[in-house]
Amino acid sequence: MAVRQIRVLGDEILTKKCKPVKEVNARILELIDDMFETMYDSSGVGLAASQVGVLKQIVVMDVGPREDSKGEGGAATGPNGRTQTAVVLINPEILEQDGTDTAMEGCLSVPGKSGQVTRFASVKVRAYDTEMKPFEIDATGLLARCIQHECDHLNGRMYVELVEGDLVDNETEAQE
Ligand code: NI
Repeated sequence: MAVRQIRVLGDEILTKKCKPVKEVNARILELIDDMFETMYDSSGVGLAASQVGVLKQIVVMDVGPREDSKGEGGAATGPNGRTQTAVVLINPEILEQDGTDTAMEGCLSVPGKSGQVTRFASVKVRAYDTEMKPFEIDATGLLARCIQHECDHLNGRMYVELVEGDLVDNETEAQE
């Protein structure tokens, strides 16, 4: 496992559409491991493959509690370095969406900033797991927001296009 370089706003790859994954091979599994390590290393709650320069429809997320640097206050991590709330979405597709929710949002590709974004309050997403078995998640709250944010990344869109008002400097908001 390795921390990969996160591409930042202005990098052309973040504007490109990701391609569907056809087969989960060793290379894809390594990419997913690296994406989790990269996301946790930056205290993010979500990361799309394009953010580490790979144009594949893969998202990793973890909106659960996290251990701090002293190993206190959060969920223990398993042998693969992930918590029980870790989620992988391969080829995700949002099937249903409802309501609206406005909140501050950040992105690991726009470090140190956040902005107010209105999203759907709840979404149903269908995706494939690492065995290419389909599953669905009915999400609300931060998870619903994160799914929409990361699916936008897979379509080459950044949250800054949706920000109402100005981006603000920020040190503590969750980064997606
Ligand atoms: Ni992002």
